[in-house]
Amino acid sequence: MKIDGRNTRGRLITLGAISLILASVLYIASRVSSFSALRQQGAFGNSLSSIPNHQPPTTGSYSHSSQEATSALESLLEQDIELSDLAGKGQRVSALSTLLEAIIEDPTIPRDGFFGFRTQEFGWWRLSSKTYLPWADRLESEVGIVMCVGQKNFVLAAQNIRTLRNVLGSTLPIDIFYAGEHDFPWEKRKELENFAPDIHTLNILDFYDDTVAGINDSLTENGWVMKPFAMLASRFQKAILVDADTIFLQRPDTYFDDDIHLKETGTLFYHDRAVKGGYTGWIDTLKWIKEVLKDRKPSAMLKESIFWTAKLEHQQESGLVFMDKQKPDVFTSLMFATWMNTKAAREEYVYKHIFGDKETFWLACELTSTPYYFNPFYTGMIGHYEAGAKEMCSVQLLHLDSGGSPFWLNGGLRENKRLDQELGQKDFATLTDYIPAGVTWAEQPRWRYMKNGVFCTDAKPDRVKSVEKAELTKLIEDMIIEATEVDKMFPN
Ligand SMILES: *[C@@H]1O[C@H](CO)[C@@H](O)[C@H](O)[C@H]1NC(C)=O
Repeated sequence: MKIDGRNTRGRLITLGAISLILASVLYIASRVSSFSALRQQGAFGNSLSSIPNHQPPTTGSYSHSSQEATSALESLLEQDIELSDLAGKGQRVSALSTLLEAIIEDPTIPRDGFFGFRTQEFGWWRLSSKTYLPWADRLESEVGIVMCVGQKNFVLAAQNIRTLRNVLGSTLPIDIFYAGEHDFPWEKRKELENFAPDIHTLNILDFYDDTVAGINDSLTENGWVMKPFAMLASRFQKAILVDADTIFLQRPDTYFDDDIHLKETGTLFYHDRAVKGGYTGWIDTLKWIKEVLKDRKPSAMLKESIFWTAKLEHQQESGLVFMDKQKPDVFTSLMFATWMNTKAAREEYVYKHIFGDKETFWLACELTSTPYYFNPFYTGMIGHYEAGAKEMCSVQLLHLDSGGSPFWLNGGLRENKRLDQELGQKDFATLTDYIPAGVTWAEQPRWRYMKNGVFCTDAKPDRVKSVEKAELTKLIEDMIIEATEVDKMFPN
């Protein structure tokens, strides 16, 4: 049923409101969440449940849920919304997700409602045939890696790609996003594209109205802003967003099938270092998150995290983000996260409270009742441990897979990428030992910031693990050989 008649609108809003109250009462009374009730809770922002519930509803209920979401959106959009009302924006996004799901699942439902609302809320994102869109039939590449690269981190990216292709044997296609010619000139782009098979470079500015996105403006600081924009614009249904200096220690190609939680929720996020009051100065992130949530209840994923219980400064490290954009709620959450990184939203509000893009991925899911999953281990360290020393110090962050084995590191293969950029120090890191971080607060390493990106932590002998015992020595050696080759190809 198409809902665009002017005189039916008021009635539909009333009907929507009545059925919302009914559904809420029914929900609380029975706690049996039928699919459409769950979607509707999402549409109105009550975070009653974040348990995945993917029982397929009947065709009729899609048309029902889309009508309700439409009237919800119509009344929500009648009111102006403050930039700081992220929960309110979340309600809109959640209703949009319900509409998206309905048009994907039921072809008889007219699509113009969804497209109209999308344009109203996210019109600065230009839909492109190069982008994976869950409502379109075309799928060029199911799984792929998304990376933001400019001439500043070009060599790091080349080293990353060489380790992926030549050491890990990854054949995943790679989308490289850059922001305009001056960020990554044509000759350099060609070098990277010719460097290994299946690498595309794309200008992120082709996909967004940059007066709103403000990506070019952000380049003078760092490239972080670009990351969600790139993930959203990419041609992959299942996108693996990595930093140029994210180095996998295991082949990631089948991870969307291998990791049960990723398969279930379509998301996999990683925690940051567990610090309370970081080296950037104390930011009470949790206090802000609670303000943002307003009267929403935190999801179990949030409430049970030590970010919440032990009041950490950071929750997410976005050096690696997995998202399956076929899931409507995941897709619209990514749109929402991207919006949080647009110029006005980030400068006037979001980045005053969090450090760059990283918290926006999970926060968007949280505020739309989209089930999401964090790998339970917080960030550990990989580097070199001098026998007998009290501390171990390193730039490289280490992340474990769900079974507790080293999975990826952040910081690249250089001893210190910052000293490379500033002083041209090209030495490679000695990666012989690691300190994994556990799940609970008691299991976390105590971090001490030195300078130039170096962190130190207590190195009690029982906590330090050997790279050799983890059977990674050869792999890391091979990676450094590849990275050395890259240096020879691009001396500067
Ligand atoms: C991006 O900003 C720089 C100044 O920082 C400017 O020189 C350049 O032309 C801009 N690029 C685009 C595509 O607007």
